[in-house]
Order: sequence, then C-alpha cells, then structure tokens
Amino acid sequence: KNAPPEVPYWIPYLGSAIQFSLNPLKFFEENRKKYGDVFTYTMVGRKFTVCLGTEGNNFVFNAKLADVSAEESYSPLTTPVFGKGVVYDCPNHMLMEQKRFVKWGMSNDAFRAYVPEIEEETKDYFKRWNNKAGARGDLFVAMGELIIKTASRTLMGPEIRALMDDSVAQLYHDLDDGFQPINMFFEWLPLPSYFRRDKAHRKMRDIFRQVIEERRANNITDKTDMLQSLMNQTYKNGTAFTDVDACHLMIALLMAGQHTSSTTATWALMYLAERPNLVKELLDEQRDVLGSIDAPLSFDQMKNMPLLDNVIRETLRLNPPIILVLRKVIRSVAFPGTEYIIPKGHYLAASPIGTQIDEKFYKNATSFEPHRWDNVVEEDSGETVDYGFGKIAGGGARNPSLPFGAGRHRCIGESFAYVQLKTIISTFIRMYDISLTEKGFPKPDFTKMFVQPQLPVQVDYKPRK
Ligand code: HEM
Repeated sequence: KNAPPEVPYWIPYLGSAIQFSLNPLKFFEENRKKYGDVFTYTMVGRKFTVCLGTEGNNFVFNAKLADVSAEESYSPLTTPVFGKGVVYDCPNHMLMEQKRFVKWGMSNDAFRAYVPEIEEETKDYFKRWNNKAGARGDLFVAMGELIIKTASRTLMGPEIRALMDDSVAQLYHDLDDGFQPINMFFEWLPLPSYFRRDKAHRKMRDIFRQVIEERRANNITDKTDMLQSLMNQTYKNGTAFTDVDACHLMIALLMAGQHTSSTTATWALMYLAERPNLVKELLDEQRDVLGSIDAPLSFDQMKNMPLLDNVIRETLRLNPPIILVLRKVIRSVAFPGTEYIIPKGHYLAASPIGTQIDEKFYKNATSFEPHRWDNVVEEDSGETVDYGFGKIAGGGARNPSLPFGAGRHRCIGESFAYVQLKTIISTFIRMYDISLTEKGFPKPDFTKMFVQPQLPVQVDYKPRK
C-alpha cells in the first residue's frame, strides 16, 4: 500500500502555498484532474492530504476519533482567541458535552423570542441608510455590524448588547485580527496583532465574567439567553463547567457565528440585488403567509416560507464561508477503496464546496437557482448517530451539499443562523430596493479565514414605498 500522489513543488518548505492561496478551488480542480480525488500537497512545511468527492467528504467528516484530531489542527488558531478549557483545548468528549450545553440555549422558545429582537435591530440599524433615491451602501460593512448586534442581543444577552456600540465592538475586531490563516502556521511569531488579540481576549472574558457575577449576585434567573444556560451546566462525570469556561465558550460562539453569518447575508443580498424578480417573489411569499409586508415577522410563520429558506440554502451551496475542514492524522489511515495509506502527521482536508458546485449533482451547478430546491426532499436513511449533543441523520456526510459539515464536529449553529438570516433578509427587503452597481457581482476572496466577497461590496438602493 502507498501514500497518495503528491503535488510537486519548487519552493522548499513553502510548497504549494502560493498557488493554493490564490485560488484553492482552482488548485484542487487542476490537481484532481491529474491525480484523482485524493492527493497530497505541501504548504509551509506541512503535508495536507485533500479528500474530494462525496467519499472524500465522508472519509474526513466521519473519520474515527482514534485516527484523527480536529483539536490538533485548530487549537493554535482557536485557543488564544476562545481561551482555555473549551472547544479545541479539551478532549473531544468534553467538546461534545459543550455542544449539548449550547443546544439548550437554541430551543424553539428561544427562537420565538429572538425573531422580534432581530427584526427590531435590523430596522434600527438601517435607519442610518438615507431615504433619498439613488444612494449607495456597503452591504458587507452593514452585515458585519448588524450581526454583531443581533447575535449579542439574542445569544449573549442584553448586558453585552448594551456594550456593543463602543468598546466591545473594538475588542471583537482585535480578537478577529488574531484569527487569520497565518496564525495556524506562525503561532510563535511575536506579532503585534497577537498581543492585541491576547489583551482583547482577557478583556472580553472579564466582561462576560462580570455579567455572570452580577446575575448571580442579584439572583437573576429569568433570562433565557445562552449565557444563562451556560451558567448552570455540569459535565456528566460531575466535573463543573466553570464560569470561566462559560466565558470562553461564549467567545467561541461569537466568533463561530459572526463571519459565517455576515458573509452569507451579504452574498444572499447580492444575489437579490441581481434579481429583482426574486425579491418580488419573496415579498409575495411574506404577503401570502402574513397577510401584509407590514405585519411583524414570527418564527413560526417564517417556517412556511420555503423560498426564503431556499435562497439561503442556495447561497450556502455556492458560497459556503468555510471551504476547508481539517483534521490531523494521529494514526495512519487507509482510504477505503484505494491503495492509499495516509500517514500519521498529515492533515486531512475536506472541501465540500467541490461537490456543491459539481454538475454531477446539480444541473447548471454554478448558477444561483433557489427554485432548484423546491421539490427536494432530504434523503433520510432513517439511521441516526448520537455524538452526545443530539442525534444527527446517519449517512449525512455523503450529501453533496454540506455547508455546515457533518459528523461529530457538525455545526450546532445552523438553526440559529437560519433564524437570524431569514429575519434580517426579510426585514431588509421590506425597507429597501437594491440593485448591483456598475461593478457587477463580486468575486470571492479566498485569502480570508472565511471566504468573503471581494471588497467593497456596494449596492445602489432606494427606500421601498
Ligand atoms: C461547526 C459552518 C454558524 C457554532 C461548523 C462547521 C462548519 C460550520 C462547516 C464544521 C467544522 C469542522 O468540521 O471542522 C457554519 C456556517 C454558519 C455557521 C456556514 C452560518 C451560515 C454558526 C453559528 C454558531 C456556530 C451561528 C453558534 C452560534 C459552531 C460550533 C461548531 C461549528 C460550536 C462545532 C465545532 C466542532 O464540533 O468542532 N460550523 N457555521 N456556527 N459551528 Fe458553525
């Protein structure tokens, strides 16, 4: 048995870093043509074995705990930002329990309360866009700022939301600057951005801790937000989930939800700016369900808006914010159906966007057609897998569309992200009519941790009457 084929490179150590960073999708596609779905490339002294196709996705997402480790791949990046003891700075079984704690704070009752709050934040935010016809606005900036507000108002609690306008937003930016692809490779460099990151981490933790202490001191127990639910958890084996752990997990959730949701909102609205007919259909859908586009939105009624769901689903198919998922191989593993053994020390890389834009699975795969999902019923094999944080449909990792991943590390923020995106998009299109500028539709920028549209992302807008 053999190691998978290797992409040749001319610059020692750096390897294929440049070709990869310029356009990872092109890099994968070109090499897939030469070597097939499984091949290895070198980048900054490390070996990455990318596993493409639905079998590749399944192999990486469902790899055994004894064979691969997510924490060894991500921890250098995430631990300084989130803090110790949570997510990738603890054994996997503890992460699974942390995910269960988080799920508690994402109930339907919580979502019912969140929708009017998100609607109000969106209306308030966009009041600053002026009411004259012919104005131009930056959607990327707007969505970034709005989602910090909506996520903090709902998940983080009113105390954090109240601070969000000034100091905390800056802390957030400093944390964010310490969350770049380069940090995975050069964690030991004395970069000024790392000092700012560490300082921001400590301040952020202290802010959450202060809120927790105040709630405890004042016997406040009636809050339904995430912070409250994390304040009252214990691991199954009796170990306490401490207040500091809760603070760290809150920071992790803030980071996990921010760029993923803000870039998705931006892409979705850009597609709508390109397609006035689709906006009309979405507004008609709102009228059908709610009677009028002036009626308040509600969580339960938005469940009956399939086109709204499908706009987000289709946006995530074409523009998933996460295009690379990594696991470090800790025990050599065979790739089923091939001769390949992937050696210990390699990183396994899955890139589910590959199957998401493959003609084999989607007709006119690169064009945005939300109606393609109209009659799609998710195949469900009936089996479920329980990793400890709730049951997941079995065999899910072979679904060609996996913007939220699969298996034990699957996203737990999906339903929250949908609630947030649906509310923001619906509210926004009630307020403004948007269209593309002469720059047209933006291309993706792959150099960022989360793929985002190339900046600036402007639209022409006028208030809807
Ligand atoms: C995991 C995508 C929003 C929290 C993941 C993974 C993906 C993903 C692909 C799997 C990573 C891996 O296997 O290595 C997205 C997208 C989002 C989104 C596309 C929005 C459009 C959120 C939100 C939250 C969140 C809003 C929390 C409030 C998490 C957590 C994990 C995760 C806790 C688990 C990490 C693990 O188990 O290793 N997400 N996410 N995500 N996400 Fe999300």
